[in-house]
Amino acid sequence: MRKKIVAGNWKMNTNIQEGLQLADDVSSMIEELNYDENKFGVIIAPPYTHLYAIAQILSPKIGLSSQNIAAYENGAYTGEISTEMAKSVGVQYVILGHSERRKYFAEGSSELLAKVKLSIKDNLTPIFCIGEVLEERNAGKHFEVVERQIKEVLFELPKNDFEKVIIAYEPVWAIGTGETASPEQAQEIHSFIRKLIVDKFGNETAENTTILYGGSCKPSNADGLFSQADIDGGLIGGASLKAKDFIELIKIRTKY
Ligand code: PGA
Repeated sequence: MRKKIVAGNWKMNTNIQEGLQLADDVSSMIEELNYDENKFGVIIAPPYTHLYAIAQILSPKIGLSSQNIAAYENGAYTGEISTEMAKSVGVQYVILGHSERRKYFAEGSSELLAKVKLSIKDNLTPIFCIGEVLEERNAGKHFEVVERQIKEVLFELPKNDFEKVIIAYEPVWAIGTGETASPEQAQEIHSFIRKLIVDKFGNETAENTTILYGGSCKPSNADGLFSQADIDGGLIGGASLKAKDFIELIKIRTKY
């Protein structure tokens, strides 16, 4: 059965002192919680500059993710960080295809496919983000957009590689806006995504794929979202920067 997950995407926030403090706070609070680590996982994605230091103090109950990775293995790519570099400092996961990368850094499907393939080859688990912008939602095109984003990247993978990926549905209009998709809106898309996976790779693979929701998810709205059948957890931005809120989200996720 698929794993439930709460993942924190810190984005470009915190300096090293603040980041270490936050990681330390979350680490000590998580030690108090009892849950089955085979069924439920916690991940944080701090900025690149913090990864090595945080890896030294992070609770073993928390997985470490980067927020991006280079599309190339090594060499003359000034400013880039390779999968091997990330692995060497303790990174296990990588967020790919986040809407902010798609929007501000023009990342499209072919680049993302290269990044997903390289990550899997080097044993990093991709957390692959998809989601429509407001105009697409208003035009009723959200199903179409999400289907295209999945088909152009994840459905290009062989089944055994696809099975290593975590999916995050993040409606762009809900990211950092305080506006969340309603539990019904989110469930509708999540079950649509699972159905696409059934059609492509079969029922077992679909049942084993973790699909997270992201977009202004916080303790006050997480119950409604996490109790939905096809919402397996959250990719949390703003609320992951407050240790108490992040821990509260973990508590809510472990309830269902
Ligand atoms: P948010 O961000 O929780 O601040 O809306 C979510 C994300 O972008 O992953």
